[in-house]
Amino acid sequence: MDLALLISSFSMQRDAARHSQQEALYRSLRDLLLDGRIAPGTRLASTRTLAGELGIARNSVVYAYERLAEEGFVVATRNGTMTLWDGRGQDNVRDKSRPHPIRLSDRVDGLGNPQAEPDRMSPFVPGLPSLDEFPVAQWRRCVERAWKRIKPAQLAYGPVEGLPELRRAVAAYIKVSRGVRCETDQIFITDGTQGSLELCARMLANAGEFGWLENPCYNGARTAFRSAGLCLVPIEVDDEGMAPREDQWRIHPPKLIYTTPSHQYPLGSLMSMQRRAALAEKARECGAWIIEDDYDSEFRHRGQPLPAIQGIHAEAPVCYLGTFSKTMFPALRLGFMVIPSIAVGPLSQTLRELVHRGHPADQLAMAEFIDSGLFARHLRTMRSLYTHRRGRLEAALARHLGTALKVRESSGGMHLSAELTVPLQDTEIARIGANQGLMLQPLSRYRVADGQTYNGFVLGYAGLTDRTMEKAVVQLAQLIEAHHPKADHAPI
Ligand SMILES: Cc1ncc(COP(=O)(O)O)c(C=O)c1O
Repeated sequence: MDLALLISSFSMQRDAARHSQQEALYRSLRDLLLDGRIAPGTRLASTRTLAGELGIARNSVVYAYERLAEEGFVVATRNGTMTLWDGRGQDNVRDKSRPHPIRLSDRVDGLGNPQAEPDRMSPFVPGLPSLDEFPVAQWRRCVERAWKRIKPAQLAYGPVEGLPELRRAVAAYIKVSRGVRCETDQIFITDGTQGSLELCARMLANAGEFGWLENPCYNGARTAFRSAGLCLVPIEVDDEGMAPREDQWRIHPPKLIYTTPSHQYPLGSLMSMQRRAALAEKARECGAWIIEDDYDSEFRHRGQPLPAIQGIHAEAPVCYLGTFSKTMFPALRLGFMVIPSIAVGPLSQTLRELVHRGHPADQLAMAEFIDSGLFARHLRTMRSLYTHRRGRLEAALARHLGTALKVRESSGGMHLSAELTVPLQDTEIARIGANQGLMLQPLSRYRVADGQTYNGFVLGYAGLTDRTMEKAVVQLAQLIEAHHPKADHAPI
């Protein structure tokens, strides 16, 4: 046994970690064995010898040995000397003293994002509304009134479908604004679209079935499908939205089809009426569900909105998802699903086992916010603000970047997508930008499996004031210029 090693480890445990002598000795021996620095089977010094070498009481050594023996690290031999355990039952020893090895399930393997949490308030972060303009005082009054009205019974687990007040308010609002055909009982309140997506993926499909995703696609949908064990099928997108090929229906018949027809995420195209009808028809034929994510359709800057796919047929196989993350604020964590009336019963019963609902005050406050007209007023203000900001961003990009970025046509939303026309890699520019405090979302990161790759950026503009926008665009232009000085992209 290497006494010098043990003495130095013991001193460290005792002096630096301030453990008692017996605890320090126990820990030193345990760690040296676990790290392999004392080989299994090594004979330990007698308690008297070791106490002498370490200058500690013999009782302390006896205590450490006994504790190691109890935990299976050492065993006593016939002549009374302890020997380090020789390999039998190794797994038991390790299980007791080491943290359990972390191995996540195959369903989530590879989903982890090693990057630090991004600064959510930095310029261009997609999906973030203008939080500075949110009418906090009005909202606070609704929340306060809700708390005054809440009865003790409402502090228990809430109904899984959500509170009736909010379900009624949502039904009335989306019937008019989105052409969604629904009754109140078809509305299920959720904790946002991510929650809805995960529920849909778990409830409506089996592991191993095909889940169609637009390519490129909202990463939250990809995550939900993958973690439910679906086989992902990338479906290319063109100017009319998701464009499945005829053979894909045959070769990879979908169980779930995720789509963002009002404003394809991230490219921005609007799905044509013809495409919507064809998708609904084909989905019905092959027994698939369409998951229609209508995440930001409230913000159209030009043209008339097209009705939701959900509204095409009374019983279209569509689960329509809405969120208050864009229209209110993301931390609210409120969203909703609209499901066909025939599915209401089975889904309610299953949800009762899958989720527990709460936040009654937020639900009541949201219902009042809608019913009182405050929501509609807030949306009107935000719509014109975002239209203004989009126009300014396009102008600033043209002024400072010229033709280096080609902005894609789109008629609404809170972000635009732009492709690099110069030979630079979006991920590389994003990496360098992040070091300078500019968080850019590379378009290539939205690619699904072996689908086509796009090279550019998704630029959120809803939260950008005129001043921060100009500064951020100049920074982006300098970044591109610095890495591609000879490009023919003179500002116009
Ligand atoms: C396409 C899309 N769907 C939905 C959401 C909102 O999800 P949630 O309601 O979970 O905040 C986002 C947010 O950025 C999004 O980009």
